[in-house]
Amino acid sequence: MSNQNDQHSSSHEPPSRKEMSRRQFLTYTLGGATAFMMGGVALPMVRFAVDPILQQKGEGTYVKVVEASKITNEPQEFTFELKQQDGWYLSTATLTAWIRKDESGKIYALSPICKHLGCTVGWNKNKDLPEQYFCPCHGAHYTKEGKQLAVAPKPLDEYRVKLENDWILLGDIIPNTIVK
Ligand code: FES
Repeated sequence: MSNQNDQHSSSHEPPSRKEMSRRQFLTYTLGGATAFMMGGVALPMVRFAVDPILQQKGEGTYVKVVEASKITNEPQEFTFELKQQDGWYLSTATLTAWIRKDESGKIYALSPICKHLGCTVGWNKNKDLPEQYFCPCHGAHYTKEGKQLAVAPKPLDEYRVKLENDWILLGDIIPNTIVK
């Protein structure tokens, strides 16, 4: 009997470790829930802000432009569309390239943007300067390879060229590598 009483009384002893008060429990619970909700709101915003910065740059976009069999020694003008992603803004640019193959069969594509002040050059457009690219704005002219002959300080830029399944694909515009 006395044993039972002893057991009974010992079960009501306060535990030795410190118990959490109701106020502490509410503080922790509400704090945790608030932090969870804030994280849910803030993380997408942070991702939205930095995502374009973190996106890796690939080797560039190539666009299918023309079948390789159509390319001749004579420069020909081709236009094509390029989708451009600038941060969150997607646009489509219409670009032009003058494409030819040289005597060894190497295909290259020149940008028509004049290296003087950015007008557009054309092939064989001036009867006094045959077999040349000519800029009507201030008279710059260039050889077939894009080498500057007057007015402009640099040769015409070229596009990166890739041959895939007998199609010519054009990529980024880079400084002229053909003119020595
Ligand atoms: S922009 Fe072409 S010559 Fe000036």
